[in-house]
Amino acid sequence: MRLKNKTALITGGSRGVGRAAAERFIAEGAKVYITDVVADRGEATAAEIGATFIQQNVAEEADWQRVVATLEADGANLNILVNNAAILQYGNIDMESLEGWRRLMSVNSDGVFLAIKYMLPLLEKAGGGSIINMSSSSALMGVPDFCAYTASKSAVRGLTMSTAVLCKQRANKVRCNSIHPDGINTDMVREIAGQANSHDPDQYKNSAPFICQAEDVANVIFFLASDDSRHVNGIALSVDNTSTIHPPYL
Ligand SMILES: NC(=O)c1ccc[n+]([C@@H]2O[C@H](COP(=O)([O-])OP(=O)(O)OC[C@H]3O[C@@H](n4cnc5c(N)ncnc54)[C@H](O)[C@@H]3O)[C@@H](O)[C@H]2O)c1
Repeated sequence: MRLKNKTALITGGSRGVGRAAAERFIAEGAKVYITDVVADRGEATAAEIGATFIQQNVAEEADWQRVVATLEADGANLNILVNNAAILQYGNIDMESLEGWRRLMSVNSDGVFLAIKYMLPLLEKAGGGSIINMSSSSALMGVPDFCAYTASKSAVRGLTMSTAVLCKQRANKVRCNSIHPDGINTDMVREIAGQANSHDPDQYKNSAPFICQAEDVANVIFFLASDDSRHVNGIALSVDNTSTIHPPYL
């Protein structure tokens, strides 16, 4: 029960890594809010695991204002924020459209910006806490076939560092770290695999054996959420079994 008396909010929590993190947090004693743009799956997941669901599009400022109002109406003291919601889009610079780039950026980058903008005051009010931003190994290396996604996750890394230093300067006891997995065995990867395979059949086949499970990432999210990581602030934590330093498919 290492998260007893703590309250967490996890975006994109209806499936995959977000759901696995929510289950781990609840097992450790936390009260957990999950949000998702997909309302029926969010409601169902929340009911199954014992979380509270808030329907939300992370790219919409008004939705964040509604999340603040909901937490305040509940009298919740927010201690942990996991910025997990994101979308993945196949396309190198030749293939990607401005519309596609902006759509992805609005979720993956604007969504994290808005989350920190609206949730940081709540974490500060609670006397400190932990912000965990899901980035990607792609933010730490060049991935040509996912140009918008790679750029969006680099923005998340940059905002993580900016926020971590701001919090240190303010001495507000809030920490902010980013996590950089390579491949995780979730629907996000399964849904894109068909698309990517049609362009380069060997790429996913070669990388698939190296991908981890959602629980492997949830374990790391839990560490950054718990007080065991109280002196860890601003890091880029790779969860990739060496893939960033030696990509298995290159
Ligand atoms: N799966 C991987 O291989 C992998 C690798 C590196 C990093 N990541 C990152 O890990 C995180 C979790 O990924 P996952 O594999 O569990 O993905 P997933 O697609 O299974 O889950 C993402 C969730 O976010 C929700 N979501 C999407 N857009 C949203 C929006 N606008 N507002 C609110 N919710 C929204 C989806 O409905 C979904 O429930 C993401 O940030 C992803 O970029 C994943």
